[in-house]
Amino acid sequence: MSSPPDGYREWMEDREWTLDELAEAYAYPDAAGAAAAGTEASHGWLRANMVSSVDGAAHHEGRSQPLSSDADMRIFGVLRGLADAVIAGAETVRQEGYRPAKAREAFAARRAAAGQGPAPAIAVVSASLDLDFSLPLFTQPLVPTVLLTGAAADEGRVKAARAAGAQVVFAGEGTGVDPARVTGALAGLGLTRLLTEGGPRLLGQFAAAGALDELCLSLAPLVTVGDAPRIMNAPGLAVPERFRLASVLEDDGFLFTRYSRP
Ligand SMILES: NC(=O)c1ccc[n+]([C@@H]2O[C@H](COP(=O)([O-])OP(=O)(O)OC[C@H]3O[C@@H](n4cnc5c(N)ncnc54)[C@H](OP(=O)(O)O)[C@@H]3O)[C@@H](O)[C@H]2O)c1
Repeated sequence: MSSPPDGYREWMEDREWTLDELAEAYAYPDAAGAAAAGTEASHGWLRANMVSSVDGAAHHEGRSQPLSSDADMRIFGVLRGLADAVIAGAETVRQEGYRPAKAREAFAARRAAAGQGPAPAIAVVSASLDLDFSLPLFTQPLVPTVLLTGAAADEGRVKAARAAGAQVVFAGEGTGVDPARVTGALAGLGLTRLLTEGGPRLLGQFAAAGALDELCLSLAPLVTVGDAPRIMNAPGLAVPERFRLASVLEDDGFLFTRYSRP
C-alpha cells in the first residue's frame, strides 16, 4: 500500500458533482491550450474516454450505453465540453448514430475564454468513407465535421463528403489513416485539445502508435460475459506500456479513472 498519487481525489459525498468541479478535475494540460493559441509548438494532447464492464467488455449488444450511468454521461459531456475535437472511428459513428456536438450554455464562457468555438468538431476516421453524408453530422454541425482518411481514398466519396460540408483531411498514404499522424493533422487545423471516444479498433491503434496521452476509463460495476472486445482492440505491444494513475472518482459503484503517459 502507498499514499495516493498526486492529484488523487475521491468524491463520495452524496451529491452530484458540479460541471465546474468536473471541468477543473479534467482540465487539459496548459500546454495543449498554448498549442491551440499558437504560442507553443506542440501537437496537442490526445485523451481517450471509454467505458468498460468489470469483465472488460467495451460494449453490450453493440452499444456502450448499457454500460454507462448518469455520472458517466455527465463526465462524457464535460470531456466534450473541454475538447477542440472529438475523434471517433467510423464504426462507432455508424453504430452509435453520431450527431453533431451541441453547444452547451454551461461551457460557453469557459470555451470562449480558452479561444474555442461553441462546440467541439467531430472528427471521423474512415478508410472506406462508407458513411451517410446526408446525416446531420455532416450537413448541420455547428463547426464542420472533419473526415480523416488516407490519400488514396475513393475520390467520389471524398467529393461527396466535401459537398455535404465535411472538411476532408488526408493523414495516411494508402486508403487508411496513420494513427501517429492524426494529432499533427488536427493541430494543423488549430485543434489540439483532442478527445477520442474510440471505438476499440481505433483506440488500440492510437495506443500502439504511442499517440495516446491520457485514458479516462469508466469502470462499470457490471458483468456482461460474452465476447465483446475490450476497450483497445488492435495488434498488441511487444512490451506493456506503463501509464500513471492521475485521479479516481467514484459514484454509485462506478470508478472514473484517469491515467496519463508518465
Ligand atoms: N466502451 C466504450 O466506451 C465505447 C466507445 C466507442 C465505441 N464503443 C463500441 O465499439 C463498437 C465499435 O468499435 P470498433 O472497434 O468496432 O470500431 P471503431 O474503432 O469505432 O471504428 C472502426 C472503423 O474506423 C475506421 N478506422 C479505424 N482505424 C482506421 C485507420 N487507421 N484508417 C482509416 N480508418 C480507420 C474504419 O472505418 P471504415 O470501415 O469506414 O473504413 C474502421 O472500420 C460499437 O459497438 C460501439 O458501441 C464502445
